[in-house]
Amino acid sequence: VAGITVQDGTVDLPNPLAELTLDELRTRRSVKWNTYPPDVLPLWVAEMDAPLAPSVRAALLAAVERGDTGYAHPGGLAEAYAGFAAARLGWAPDPATARLVPDVMNGVVAVLDALVPAGSTVVLNTPAYPPFFSFLRGGGWRVVESPLTPTGDGGYALDLDRLDHDLAGAAAYLLCNPHNPTGTVFDRATLVGVAERCARRGVRVLADEIHAPLTYPGVEFVPYLAVTDDGVAMVSASKAWNLPGLKAALAVPGPRVDLSVLPPEVSFGAGLLGVIAAEAAFRSGGQWLDALLAALDHNRRLLAALLADALPQVGYRLPDATYLAWLDCRRLGLGDDPSVAFLDRKVAVNPGPSFGLPGHGFVRLNLATSPAILTAAVQRMAAAVA
Ligand SMILES: Cc1ncc(COP(=O)(O)O)c(C=O)c1O
Repeated sequence: VAGITVQDGTVDLPNPLAELTLDELRTRRSVKWNTYPPDVLPLWVAEMDAPLAPSVRAALLAAVERGDTGYAHPGGLAEAYAGFAAARLGWAPDPATARLVPDVMNGVVAVLDALVPAGSTVVLNTPAYPPFFSFLRGGGWRVVESPLTPTGDGGYALDLDRLDHDLAGAAAYLLCNPHNPTGTVFDRATLVGVAERCARRGVRVLADEIHAPLTYPGVEFVPYLAVTDDGVAMVSASKAWNLPGLKAALAVPGPRVDLSVLPPEVSFGAGLLGVIAAEAAFRSGGQWLDALLAALDHNRRLLAALLADALPQVGYRLPDATYLAWLDCRRLGLGDDPSVAFLDRKVAVNPGPSFGLPGHGFVRLNLATSPAILTAAVQRMAAAVA
């Protein structure tokens, strides 16, 4: 797999997920590599085991050389994102109206604070990224869970009638597309249906599109604001270029939403290095992203083969996007939270129940690691069942 290359006619890039050894990764200071003892393979929180994209690394090194560590100025980040969105997502947002936020979760809270009444109801689809619950409840909103519908092949669909029912009386809907943890990319017709129902019910839509750059070749990602003028997209380079600790994201409003009502303090928590890195990623990180996607594509298929061989009872459908694998372990007999048994075998994955009721019996596995680590992890997980 070290041989994965991506060609754009000029450069071959090595597999970004096969460059760092386990020993090198263990020197990292991030939460992924420091929460569990060193004998545990950490396949949990959404960080990637890749080095930085060359353009991002160069921009950060130059900033450090300049001693450029003052407060964040948005610079050309929104323009860089708009260029990326136009080139790769077929959507041309107006960079002048976007607002810099520290990260997607703080951005979601800030936008809700500004646009929907305190204490009102926010709907989200379950299974759901666990901080959705904690940040929304912490901000004082009531959370209504609207479950996605299993399609029977390990996939999930957004049932528009079910959503419409759950939107009754709600002030906002937090759409997650591509969806964490299931890896589902919702199609255009679904998004049009969402927009119609939310418009009819007067529900504000926040579209968390943090994973959009991680859509696999052959799958079309349609930005929510490409189908409607109304809503706010939350975007960031932090997942696709592994920058979450640097703190920079954007709230991008549709033409019918005015984000000038957000107070200036909303941008204060953003980091300048985050802005600089994200701008470099969106402007000139496309070739590296293609190499990464080739490596992730290899890993999502490798995981299918490893599971078929060692843990054939586990349900897994290739994600349309994201490096997250949502594993149905209900037939393993490991109870509501199979992550406990896997951790006993020195593999850390995210507990399914933390994603809400539909997560019982599931785990979320982060496959943005080397093929060797992924292989070792599945072998250890199989030993938990044997
Ligand atoms: C769907 C989704 N939203 C938000 C976040 C968190 O993003 P941030 O670190 O920018 O708050 C994540 C992180 O994995 C995520 O998967």
